[in-house]
Amino acid sequence: MTQVRLLYFSRATRDMSLSDLKDILGKARANNDSLEVCGMLCYENRYFLQALEGERSALNELYLDIAEDPRHDEITLISYCEVDSPTFERWKMGYAAGSAEFYRLLKEMGQTEFSPAVMNEAQALSFLKLMSGNQSGI
Ligand SMILES: Cc1cc2nc3c(=O)[nH]c(=O)nc-3n(C[C@H](O)[C@H](O)[C@H](O)COP(=O)(O)O)c2cc1C
Repeated sequence: MTQVRLLYFSRATRDMSLSDLKDILGKARANNDSLEVCGMLCYENRYFLQALEGERSALNELYLDIAEDPRHDEITLISYCEVDSPTFERWKMGYAAGSAEFYRLLKEMGQTEFSPAVMNEAQALSFLKLMSGNQSGI
């Protein structure tokens, strides 16, 4: 079966509270477990940046569902590619928000604000990978 990785960013339609984020992650982790999808989500400054990995048809369907979620819009696909092995397989959906480490990494990339729109694919993937090792515990 073909395994793929998809990266996108989007704009939250309103400020997300902790309980909004818990709701998204709770649903995501339960669904992704049964779909054998995994990934990593960052939320800060009203931007979402997400990596999703899994079997191609399951992942495509999930992405279309997520894209219709009214909690965000301006969904922008960064990349979609086949992968031999998943990068984020330890997390049904990892999560990181604006911690000190988060801003330290952004600064290393020459950015002071979280704005995935200015990240290229390599930067977005590397940011998500590094933050998967520095998650916010929700
Ligand atoms: C930024 C964002 C990321 C999301 N990520 C996922 C995800 O990885 N997996 C998932 O099943 N739902 C995710 N959701 C939620 C879906 O859009 C949708 O609410 C959920 O799949 C509906 O599940 P249900 O049909 O079981 O109620 C996400 C929503 C948002 C706003």
